Amino acid sequence: MGLNLCVFASGSGSNLKAIIKASLTGRINSRVSLVISNNSGAGALKTAAEYNIPYLHLSQKLFATQKEFTAEILRSLKKHKVNFILLAGYMKMLDPVIIKKFRNRIINIHPALLPKFGGKGMYGIHVHEAVVAANEQITGATIHFVNEVYDSGAVILQKQVRVKPADDAESLQKRVLRAEHKLYPEAIRLFEEKRVRVRKNKVFIK
Ligand code: GRF
Repeated sequence: MGLNLCVFASGSGSNLKAIIKASLTGRINSRVSLVISNNSGAGALKTAAEYNIPYLHLSQKLFATQKEFTAEILRSLKKHKVNFILLAGYMKMLDPVIIKKFRNRIINIHPALLPKFGGKGMYGIHVHEAVVAANEQITGATIHFVNEVYDSGAVILQKQVRVKPADDAESLQKRVLRAEHKLYPEAIRLFEEKRVRVRKNKVFIK
């Protein structure tokens, strides 16, 4: 069954683009119904415009209270009949009210093999810098559920990426991103096929 996806993104939006392409080529049955960014200059919003996908710049700063901000997000999700949320480089925490309402229907991609290299300060290039500094030979990408605690939701899928001796953080980031672009559509398919079960914060794939 195809899902009506909302993608939240703050940055360049290369994962968003990969998901849109997977949808257009039929690799997934879902479609991106809405893109939301807290950053008006995000590449993700340009990509949404390019593909004629509804998009919104919604930032807490534009609202008097967190409650109003959250209410506006929920209104927009309802308006576009969104039933599944993807975070792809979204730099903000979602309000617990949204997480509760979409329990087990919000997933995120992280550019490392969680639980390694996750948590505070572990975002963007910092993740890859830490991987290189730790002399890891294998890194990768993780798709996980989003709950109220940053980077701690149950892991759904991981893809390994080899760290080459000559790698620096930038070259590693590029290779991991390519893996991410394959992994996100694979994860979406699992949900389309209803193959993901969660019990006690553990994921079972049928
Ligand atoms: C990705 O590396 C993702 O894992 C992380 O943020 C980055 C977003 O990249 N959460 P992009 O905006 O999709 O290019």
